Amino acid sequence: MKACDRLDVDFRVCVRLNTDFHSMKTLLTTDPDQAAEFIRGGGIVAFPTETVYGLGANVFDERAVRKIFEAKERPADNPLIAHVGDRSQIAELSREINDAAHRLIDAFFPGPLTVVVKRSARVPLIATAGLETIGIRMPRHELARRFLAACGTPVVAPSANISGRPSPTTWQAVYEDLDGRVDCILQGEATEIGLESTVVDCTNEVPLVLRPGAVGIEEIRRIVPNAAVFAGNAEQAAVSPGMRHKHYSPRAKVVIVRNASEAVGHGRSAFIGLEATSAHFDRVEVCASPNAYAHRLFAFFRECDSDKIDVIYCQEVEEMGIGRALMDRLRRAAEA
Ligand code: TXA
Ligand code: MG
Repeated sequence: MKACDRLDVDFRVCVRLNTDFHSMKTLLTTDPDQAAEFIRGGGIVAFPTETVYGLGANVFDERAVRKIFEAKERPADNPLIAHVGDRSQIAELSREINDAAHRLIDAFFPGPLTVVVKRSARVPLIATAGLETIGIRMPRHELARRFLAACGTPVVAPSANISGRPSPTTWQAVYEDLDGRVDCILQGEATEIGLESTVVDCTNEVPLVLRPGAVGIEEIRRIVPNAAVFAGNAEQAAVSPGMRHKHYSPRAKVVIVRNASEAVGHGRSAFIGLEATSAHFDRVEVCASPNAYAHRLFAFFRECDSDKIDVIYCQEVEEMGIGRALMDRLRRAAEA
């Protein structure tokens, strides 16, 4: 039996519900206390973090968590990350924090790192997609921290996009996907990092990086030297359900190129990369560094879609630090 077979979420029902979503009023606010009131009342709220915007619900409120899956049209077998505002909440979510998890938490919380640990019995199975484990993260983003403090409970939150679309890095991108489907959008600035957190599974002897992010493998190995990187084999895939799903895709076709001269435009084309180019594209973004590239990528994908671009050429980067996460997202987008 697959873990998700234990759940009674029926996504045919979700699709049907979606037709009613647009009758829902979505409140836009910059006030974290006002946004948190919706969480306390069993609602769902999009909020900024330093990585991407998340769509949150009280982790212990099963009905509220279900609303997240419906609003995003998210497959039921993809588990959610629980966000804490304060370290004492970790004990509410997990019955066992082993040494590797402890060390990673001490080194990187608050920040763009998620640790996967054994879940506590209090966490409803819908939040973990039927798994006995749970991902936990403590954002360092100021507004997110004020929001989580006001919620007074850990908040499960996937990225606040319709499943399969690029994660939102601005509140406007959240609005584009989820207006009429969520109770509230907490409006902050564009997110600093622009790619999702690094996810490390700490439930086995060898900690396994399931998803690269802003905390690089080099930094993780400084804290847990035996950490391995997810290689996508069958055994590892079982612990990383989210990696099976299509992700981060603009409507346009994504092509990875070594440099701009390799990008030969057909139809309306765009280029994003580190190198200036004199070739003609309908949209061009030259980024000053890999960090700036990461910060802009998902917003650029969305701008290209609004612009009816057919092909987006993305320049490859060296797989170091944020470069590894950037290449991971580019490959996933190019797979589509
Ligand atoms: O930066 C982020 O992580 C953002 C912000 C909002 O915090 N959240 C985010 O959530 O990217 P989401 O749901 O889009 O991606 C969560 C990833 C998925 O690949 C999922 O499979 C994995 O984390 N994940 C969550 N819980 C897990 C668990 N218990 N075991 C293995 N993988 C897990
Ligand atoms: Mg996501």
